Amino acid sequence: MSSLMVKRADKFDIEINTIASDKSISHRCAIFSLLSDKPSTVKNFLRAEDTLNTLEIVKKLGATVVDEGDTIHITPPKELKEPADILDCGNSGTAMRLFMGFLASQEGFFVLHGDQYLASRPMRRVADPLRKIGAHIDGRVKGNLSPIAIRGAKLNGYEYDSPIASAQVKSAMILAALHAQEMSILSEPRLSRDHTERMLLGMGAEIIVEKGKIKILPLTSPLRALNITVPSDPSSGFFFAVAAAIIPESRVVIQDVSLNPTRIEAYKVLQKMGANIAFIEKEEVYEPIGDIVIQYGTLEAVDVKENIAWLIDELPALSIAMAVAKGVSRVQNASELRVKESDRISTVVENLNLCGIDAKEHEDGYEVVGGAFLQDTAVNSYGDHRIAMSFAIAGLLNGIKIEDTECINTSFPNFISLLQEISEVQSGN
Ligand code: S3P
Repeated sequence: MSSLMVKRADKFDIEINTIASDKSISHRCAIFSLLSDKPSTVKNFLRAEDTLNTLEIVKKLGATVVDEGDTIHITPPKELKEPADILDCGNSGTAMRLFMGFLASQEGFFVLHGDQYLASRPMRRVADPLRKIGAHIDGRVKGNLSPIAIRGAKLNGYEYDSPIASAQVKSAMILAALHAQEMSILSEPRLSRDHTERMLLGMGAEIIVEKGKIKILPLTSPLRALNITVPSDPSSGFFFAVAAAIIPESRVVIQDVSLNPTRIEAYKVLQKMGANIAFIEKEEVYEPIGDIVIQYGTLEAVDVKENIAWLIDELPALSIAMAVAKGVSRVQNASELRVKESDRISTVVENLNLCGIDAKEHEDGYEVVGGAFLQDTAVNSYGDHRIAMSFAIAGLLNGIKIEDTECINTSFPNFISLLQEISEVQSGN
């Protein structure tokens, strides 16, 4: 099991144009390419374990992938292939849930599986509404846990009010609706990240978003192919944003990153805490893209209880800023954190405590008493990439050792080399 030692960093001023490509968009590029009959062209596809697994699945379903280095061409099969093997989603809940929605209507038998962490994450949030419209889906523990078995079936149109603001649930249901018999209408309690709607609209799908409701018409012909350059991932960039926000006199520019409003809320919270942040929009391709400049500022505590779906992935890194900020910060309405790659309420609080920070768990969040010295200590990632990278950033203050860091490769393989531009970092076993 690999580990990472991070030493205390001095002030830094860097521009980064190699933040990992967006994970959510890369998954969708691979999966949505199957909705066209022409080759899709994807530049800057994220080459990390999660998204490469998704690309492998797309190949097992019959697509041909030509890899030209920075650009890949995905040619969909004339007819989807029934794979002879299981489809391995690795660590990715996004892959498993989106494929459930997509495969539910496809002819054939499909088994989705993943690693030990994914195998304990709830799938009924997608399986239940899909079963209600005719899908044949089963899995362990009453159809909740993987392996998930799907026998493609005819699906009915639906009206579904999702009880959770989850882009994975929404996307799975939209994908199912594209191959349903009638029009479908979907709503969610609050808007979750909307890459699926934006990309499918760009491909020509008939999706109408009106007053919080999404109407989806079944496909009558294949969609246009994708032609896209995947922007950098704001969630990955956020680790370096926090680094600049907590180290006096530091500054970082995160280049060519998605500025989709459903993805940059954590930067806005960091700005509210006192960091100096500027958003510079440069272009709009499916969604706004540009640079984010983050400069150190004295941080004050903050309460985070709104727009949780827009910053759910950044909460572990934000907790490091909370540990540095003056006062008591609180996170509420965030029980979704408990079903991420780890139970992030418990892993964040446990690791902050190990760093000497007074933090307490609540059912739907946590509170952090900021301002104390962050001790050089050893923490565990619990196999969760965002926990590993968040605490690596914490270590920039006074040093840290993180155990179990291979998981960083699921989303951000060049994280360590970028961190080395700021500090001394050693990998070990
Ligand atoms: C994702 C949606 C979010 C997010 C995950 C990626 C996506 O999950 O946490 O990392 O690509 O749709 P939920 O939709 O379950 O909240």
